[in-house]
Amino acid sequence: YYIGVDLGTSALKLVMMDSKGELVKSVSKEYPLDFPHSGWSEQNPTDWFLAVKEGLREISVGAAEKIAGISFGGQMHGLVILDKDDNVLRPAILWNDGRSTEETDYLNNVIGKEKLSELTANIAFAGFTAPKILWVKKNEPEIFEKISKIMLPKDYISYMLSGSFCTDYSDASGMLLLDVKNKKWSSEMIEICGISKSMLPKLYESYEVVGDIKSEIAKELGLNEDIKIIAGAGDNAAAAIGTGTVGDGACNISLGTSGTIFISSKNFGVDKYNALHSFDHSDGNYHLMGCMLSAASCNKWWMEDILKTKEFAAEQENIDNLGENKVFFLPYLMGERSPHNDPAARGTFVGMSMDTRREDMTLAILEGVTFGLRDSLEVARSLGIEIKKTMICGGGAKSPLWKRLVANIMNVEVEVPVSEEGPGFGAAILAAVGCGEYESVEAATKSIIKIKEKIEPEADLVVKYEERYKRFKKIYPALKGIFK
Ligand code: XUL
Repeated sequence: YYIGVDLGTSALKLVMMDSKGELVKSVSKEYPLDFPHSGWSEQNPTDWFLAVKEGLREISVGAAEKIAGISFGGQMHGLVILDKDDNVLRPAILWNDGRSTEETDYLNNVIGKEKLSELTANIAFAGFTAPKILWVKKNEPEIFEKISKIMLPKDYISYMLSGSFCTDYSDASGMLLLDVKNKKWSSEMIEICGISKSMLPKLYESYEVVGDIKSEIAKELGLNEDIKIIAGAGDNAAAAIGTGTVGDGACNISLGTSGTIFISSKNFGVDKYNALHSFDHSDGNYHLMGCMLSAASCNKWWMEDILKTKEFAAEQENIDNLGENKVFFLPYLMGERSPHNDPAARGTFVGMSMDTRREDMTLAILEGVTFGLRDSLEVARSLGIEIKKTMICGGGAKSPLWKRLVANIMNVEVEVPVSEEGPGFGAAILAAVGCGEYESVEAATKSIIKIKEKIEPEADLVVKYEERYKRFKKIYPALKGIFK
C-alpha cells in the first residue's frame, strides 16, 4: 500500500492506495489555524506533525505490514524555520498570509520584476516564501539570527519522519529562491534574502525516494522499518497528479481553501506580466498556475460564520436564477494573489436591492470565485493556450451547482475524476512511482485515473455569463482605492 499525506490548511487528509491505484482507506485530522491580525495566517508545525502521527497510526490499523511508501502533497509557500537543534523557531507563516507587503514591494520594485523573473521565472507575491524571510529578518531579527534550516510545510513532515532535509522542485518553485527553468537554487536570490545555501534543503524530483522512515518513528507507530519516504509535491502539483493533469495543455481546477487553475506543460514558459506562476511540475515537467487566496473558504465563511449553517447542499438547492443574478461578489477575503497581486483587496457584495434574496448572495459567492478563476484562465488563453476541458477537485467540487458554474462561466467541459481526494491521491501515486510500482508518473496516471462524470457548457448560459463576466471585471478596478 502507498500512503499520500495531504497537509492542507483546514485539515490533514491521509489516503491509502493499493498497487492498482484503488483507494483503500482515508482519514482526516484537524489542527488550529490562527489569524493573529487581519490578513495574517499561521499554523504550528508541531501540530501538523502530531496530526500526521495520529493519522498514520489510525490509517495503518490492520494494514501496517503492507505499507511500502509514504509521500506528500503540502500547502505551498509556508515558511518553516528551525534552529541548529531542530527546534521550530516561530509558527509557520502560511501561503495566504499578506503581512510581507513592504518586502514584496521591495523585491518587485527595487530588485525589479524583470530581474526576479530572470532569476526565478516569477515575481514576488506576499504569500511566497522569500518575502516572508525578509519580513522575519526585519521584524524578528533575534529569530532570524538563529535560523539554521528553512523548509516548506510538507518538508518539515518529511524531515521529522526520515531525517532527510529535502524538498521537491514543484514546491520549491513557490519560494522565489529557485531557478525554476534550470532546477537549481538561485545564488542571487539567496544573497538578496541574506541567507546561505546550507539553510536550504536538498532538491529532488517529486517521485524520488529521500530516505527510509526513522526506526524510532516506525517503532512508535507500529510500522515497518523499511517504509520509503518519497519527496512529494506542492498540493496543487500533487492534485494535478491525482486528477491526471500531466502532459501538454491539461488543466485542473481546485476549489479548496484556495482556488487554483493549473495548466501542465512539457515546455518552460512565462506570461508577459508574470500574472501566472511559472513552476516545475511533479511529473518532471512544468506548469502555469493562477491562485486565488479564498475559494471554497468564501463559501465556508458565508455559510458557517454569517448564515450559521452547515447545510451546504440544502442552501444551494433553491438557487434557480443561473445567469440572471443581479448580485456580484468580490471574493478577496484574504486579499488576492492572481491576477491582482493585492494583499489589501477585500471581499465585497455589489448590486443588492430590496428584493435581493439570501439565495442570490450564495450564488454570487460561487459565481465570484469562478469569475476570479476565469481571470487567470484568460491570461493563459492570451498566451495561445487552448483550454477546452478541465479536471476538477477540492471540497467545492462536491457541489453540482459549482461544477455547472465552472463549465458555463469558463466555457469548458468539466471532467470529474473517480477519486475526489486530489492532493492526497496524487501523493500516494508519487509514492507508488517512487517505490517502482510504475515506470513514470505519466504511466501511473494513465493507468489509475478514471473519469466518473462530464459536465458540458450550456450555450444560453455561456452567453449570459460572458456578459456578467464583463461587468464583474469592472468591479475590482473601481473599488481598488478604498481597500487599505
Ligand atoms: C498555491 C497556493 C495555495 C496553497 C494551498 O500557490 O498558495 O494553493 O498551496 O494549500
